[in-house]
Amino acid sequence: MSTEKVDQAIRDGCKELVLDLPTLKEISKRFLNDVNKGLKKETHPTAIVKCFVTFVQDLPNGSEKGKFLALDLGGTNFRVLLIELSKHHFEMRSKIYAIPQHIMLGSGEHLFDHIADCLAKFMKQEHVMDETLPLGFTFSFPLTQTGLTKGTLERWTKGFNCSNVVGNDVVQMLKDAIARHGDVKIEVCAILNDTTGTLMSCAWKNPNCRIGLIVGTGSNACYVERQKNAELFDDVDKGSGNVVINLEWGAFGDDGVLDFVRTAYDRDVDTNSVNPGKQLHEKMISGMYMGELTRLALERFTKEGLLFGGKASEALFTRGRFYTKYVSEIESDPPGTITSCREILEELDIHHATDQDCINVRYVCERVSKRAADLVSSGIATLLNKMNQSRVTVAIDGSVYKYHPHFHNLMMETISQLVNPGITFDLMLSEDGSGRGAALVAAVASRIRQ
Ligand code: BGC
Repeated sequence: MSTEKVDQAIRDGCKELVLDLPTLKEISKRFLNDVNKGLKKETHPTAIVKCFVTFVQDLPNGSEKGKFLALDLGGTNFRVLLIELSKHHFEMRSKIYAIPQHIMLGSGEHLFDHIADCLAKFMKQEHVMDETLPLGFTFSFPLTQTGLTKGTLERWTKGFNCSNVVGNDVVQMLKDAIARHGDVKIEVCAILNDTTGTLMSCAWKNPNCRIGLIVGTGSNACYVERQKNAELFDDVDKGSGNVVINLEWGAFGDDGVLDFVRTAYDRDVDTNSVNPGKQLHEKMISGMYMGELTRLALERFTKEGLLFGGKASEALFTRGRFYTKYVSEIESDPPGTITSCREILEELDIHHATDQDCINVRYVCERVSKRAADLVSSGIATLLNKMNQSRVTVAIDGSVYKYHPHFHNLMMETISQLVNPGITFDLMLSEDGSGRGAALVAAVASRIRQ
């Protein structure tokens, strides 16, 4: 990061976005405390970080085979996939379908009818209408599971807010919609979170993989816990002795434990979201909010006369107009150049920016994305220290991790500073985990059954 030319006033204004090492250690301590509360039977009902049991116990070993369907709901896109697994090889065909906003905010029945309709269209196109294929359903929202194919929605997150789904079993809702549609047959083998899918799809090739992480539209992580520590799973068959825990870390901070680092931008983003007071950690990290956090800082600095001679444009002052991808693009400019930054400012109708403005704008982007990477890193380091295994691979997916030019390096640096001596780790991009992982969970379930 080349910061020497950044105006001192901008640097000072951004100080509240900087999390130093002692602060990150304090956040890690609070997070561990919350994870332990989520895992324990007695404290789970009131825990903020829920640590949901996923019922996924066995990781793939590469020998899984067969033909599977997968549904992936919960990121920017809804996808239907057809996946064929054979020994250490897979083939995948998929199609993206839009979920219009009126469906995201409409009735649950309407949402699932739409999903069933897309599934039927896809199966027709792939000529598998006459087969009864096993299906894995990646549903990336907080679920209380009572089995691999049973999950009650606890709350909506990201932009979704459909009525009559919270408190219901979403697998049943999917089955009902498919029955209403009438012309497709499937067998739902598993419902899973995208973090679990990401973990599974990396573990298929890499046996050290024990953490799955998403930094995309939303943010969350899962990890492999010893069954004896997952108290809510203690009455279940011992199986492998392990179980994957879906942390739902987006909710960390919802009881105020992150208030000591939250800023006016965070409070603004939260107040204007569809779920105020919820997912406060996620709102400091993920792609759905990072652009807006940056825009709010830029708006403030403009109004204080520190940017663009005190005058910007209506676009820059419009909620949601500064996309998260802008942050990645601006930080992709090689040091000393400002090409993308200029283009983006032009797109926002700011035609009078000086080179100094561009340097300052980049600095604001860097502060917002570094803070996100630091928070994610503090969470991952907490898990690595808790698991206390000498070598762990973290499987990661999501648009922020994939497209931000420095997110990986920022994470490597911060995790290294927080992890206990003797623990080594890698961060591995696990592309398409939520699709492939759904097929793998379904496949492992059928391998174990056999
Ligand atoms: C959801 C998680 C999900 C994450 C990443 C969050 O908003 O609650 O279930 O894993 O987004 O998609």
